[in-house]
Amino acid sequence: MIIEKSLDGFRATVPCKVNLFLEVLGKRDDGYHSLDTVMMAVSLADELEISPRTDGQLTLSVEFPEGFGQPLANSDFAWRIPEDSSNLIIKALDRLRISLGKSDAGANIRLIKRIPAMAGLGGGSADAAAALVLGITLWGNASDFEKSRTIASGLGSDVNFFLEGQKNGFWLARCTKRGEAIQPLACFETLHFVIVHPPVGCGTAEVFRALGPISWDERPENPESLLRALEHGVGPQSQWGVFNRLETPAMQTTDWIDRTRKRIDRYNHRGQCLSGSGSARFCLCATRDQAEKIVSELRTNGGMRAYYAQSWQSSGIEEQINRVRNES
Ligand code: C5P
Repeated sequence: MIIEKSLDGFRATVPCKVNLFLEVLGKRDDGYHSLDTVMMAVSLADELEISPRTDGQLTLSVEFPEGFGQPLANSDFAWRIPEDSSNLIIKALDRLRISLGKSDAGANIRLIKRIPAMAGLGGGSADAAAALVLGITLWGNASDFEKSRTIASGLGSDVNFFLEGQKNGFWLARCTKRGEAIQPLACFETLHFVIVHPPVGCGTAEVFRALGPISWDERPENPESLLRALEHGVGPQSQWGVFNRLETPAMQTTDWIDRTRKRIDRYNHRGQCLSGSGSARFCLCATRDQAEKIVSELRTNGGMRAYYAQSWQSSGIEEQINRVRNES
């Protein structure tokens, strides 16, 4: 995430995430699943602006830049983003103001939306994380950052990654428990991605239900070779070894997952995978040029959304809150 001062408040640019690895280790007593996942933030990004209000209300307005916001089919919910209190942005700010002891503080939020919903790209979580950071910048200070981490895990399993997943500028982390326990990881180089999102979304709870009971015939997969590749780089012809246990259950919810997989496999890439619980997939490419060529071909005759993205880089959140508050 990148935080800046705006005309009458603050602005955050917040990336989406892809899961380079996702294994489900078991079902917990609270109904959630224990995960071992490696997430990387990539440059398909939303923007949020916050400005103060004196009447205690929290309002949200959503806008789509050109090329975003147009559904591809009647059942395409990618751009149905609620503007009421069911949006995680409003929930995040409401919980934050109570935790800061400022329950009468109000704000207007403007969301410029590029990350599609129901895609497994963590768009709702990214926006919630950005709202917490903007709320702290407006109403508190960097020492309140710890409070946002506690609120984050109650909002969704992916929110903490967007607050804590940074190491040496890259946002790459191994995430365990429900996904909210974050261990940032080193990354050797900028990676180039094509993100492909079909005209049908996946519901996270539905995909986890389709996974069914976990009975291990063999040991669970582990991300060790992927982590070595991320830390030290891979040879020019090598595959990255991406993996997602939720591929098979997601395929049971819509045939678009497999259609998208086959479509991507027509191209020369270095590994493709479902992101999170889908429905978006991504493939890794050797160069930006190669990735952008695939994007333009998929857009022209694929009937699906396609975006170029690269690994996101920005400094840690506390450092940024301090800088922006000192500037203002
Ligand atoms: O945490 P989040 O709100 O994103 O999760 C949405 C749903 O996905 C949960 O209600 C749960 O059904 C499922 N889930 C799960 N195990 C996880 C994360 C999510 O079963 N670790």
